Amino acid sequence: MMDSLASPGANTRALFASQGFLAPVALYTKPQCELILRHFRSLRAPYAWWKGYAICDRFIYDIATRPALLDVLKQVLGPELVLWGAMLIERDLGQVHIWHTDFESSALSGGFASVWVGLENTSAGSSLQLISGSHHFGKPIQQVMYESGVPRIETSTATVANLASKIDPTAQFVQPAVSDGDAIVFDGRLWHGSENTSGRKRTALLLQYVKSDTPVFIPDMSQYEEGQWHWPFRFTTKRAPSILVSGVGNSAGHDLLVAPSACSQNNPLKTFVDRGSDYAEDAVARWRPYPFFSGYTTNVEAMESHLSVLSAGHSPHPPHAHVEEELLLVLDGVAEILITDDDRSEGRVEVLGPGSFVYHPAYQHHTIRNRSDAPVTYVMLKWQSCPLEVEAPLQSHVFHWGRPNVPEGSDPFWVRVVLEAPTAYLTKLHAHQTVLQPGGGYAAHFDEHDVAIIVISGTIRTAGQDVGPRGIVFFPAGELHGMHNPGLETAHYLVFEFHAPCRSEETRKIIRRADDLSIWARVKNILRKQKRAVQLKRWTENRIKRFRRQPPQ
Ligand SMILES: [Fe+2]
Ligand SMILES: [Fe+2]
Repeated sequence: MMDSLASPGANTRALFASQGFLAPVALYTKPQCELILRHFRSLRAPYAWWKGYAICDRFIYDIATRPALLDVLKQVLGPELVLWGAMLIERDLGQVHIWHTDFESSALSGGFASVWVGLENTSAGSSLQLISGSHHFGKPIQQVMYESGVPRIETSTATVANLASKIDPTAQFVQPAVSDGDAIVFDGRLWHGSENTSGRKRTALLLQYVKSDTPVFIPDMSQYEEGQWHWPFRFTTKRAPSILVSGVGNSAGHDLLVAPSACSQNNPLKTFVDRGSDYAEDAVARWRPYPFFSGYTTNVEAMESHLSVLSAGHSPHPPHAHVEEELLLVLDGVAEILITDDDRSEGRVEVLGPGSFVYHPAYQHHTIRNRSDAPVTYVMLKWQSCPLEVEAPLQSHVFHWGRPNVPEGSDPFWVRVVLEAPTAYLTKLHAHQTVLQPGGGYAAHFDEHDVAIIVISGTIRTAGQDVGPRGIVFFPAGELHGMHNPGLETAHYLVFEFHAPCRSEETRKIIRRADDLSIWARVKNILRKQKRAVQLKRWTENRIKRFRRQPPQ
């Protein structure tokens, strides 16, 4: 038995063409694997058929289009790529998946690539088993076994290897040594199976792609009896719903769907200002949310915010978990935050007073409750974006920070960092508190990240408006904004920055233009000074000349 024939390298395309697979291909980090598992386990039934998770939601689209993965797929299939299948495959210990060729991708002309990624308890003893070179045999294994009279239940590797060697003596049995997060990328015609000898349940993700000019039909499984060999393959007339993930697409091959959006209100966010006021509670419902904004930015695929008033003795819902990451900042009152393992347990309880905030990663169970005798007012921000290859994303954490004692003679614009860490969706989540003296501030500028500002006390002037306590301002990346304290009182506010790889060339252009403008402004300033120096020099020289010609009497 061989571990692996070779890993992908410079000659990826040739290797894939000759052996029919590439492995191991390092794809996801451990936290990404855990997030993918949680996401799939939170989903309802797939759309249209058992591999219909391919088109279900934005999260799956994002993990199926990670740049490292698309790079490998483009090398082996070319630039025109369609995603048509996605599913989670769970195998109990000792469970066998009999040798087969996948129906949908078995066309002799090829053009298919399947990506099998180990997510949980992946090892050489639980990974996929393959027959290298079997994509060139011209027959799926179901056909070969059927024609050879081998019973369907036959699972022995020796039998399969023997059948393969009769077709091509160089073909080999392979079980690549892969770990969680590693992929095996294989030709859709390849013979494969699995036997989980790892001693624990093993879970893998299957993503399936094809060239955009090649149609994919959903198999007709109703045609087969239990225990019968699935041969000949039969298909329905329905095409698998699919999404273009690279290239311009080919309508002859597929009924292509557009990539799903992460947010229900699929609109680009603009600058948002809520100047702050007293928010009333709902005496009947005992929890009253005031929606602020919902949409996407060039940084994140979904961003939503609301302020809520939670009445005494109430909780809005049992602990829940969701795909978004979340920040919750208490403005008034004292709240209890529950951080739990599921929707029933009590878990960890944290007490948050005014100004304290909590961060929850995606799929962390949590809720808020008010056990005091006064209402709690809080503001919440939650967002979703591409799961990034982060090794140690931020976990649930509570941040307490008091009103700072700013030393005498400090800068009128005083800043202290409260939080700075990567998350599953952000290269950096940053928070700082600012104390802004009357008359202080900064000039208008653009940022490459989204910014949320929440005023704790005093008044700030930004986006042309005066914003007071409990006010929130949101500037998506690329929106011009400045800051000024117009009042007589010191202003105190909290800033959250959401840093992520910019997804829009348009915003990148705006930022570049802003950089160019600031450089140009500095250059003009220097030129102006130089021009003034030249004029002064000339004026002085003329004065000297005149003085020499006509000295004062
Ligand atoms: Fe398969
Ligand atoms: Fe939540």
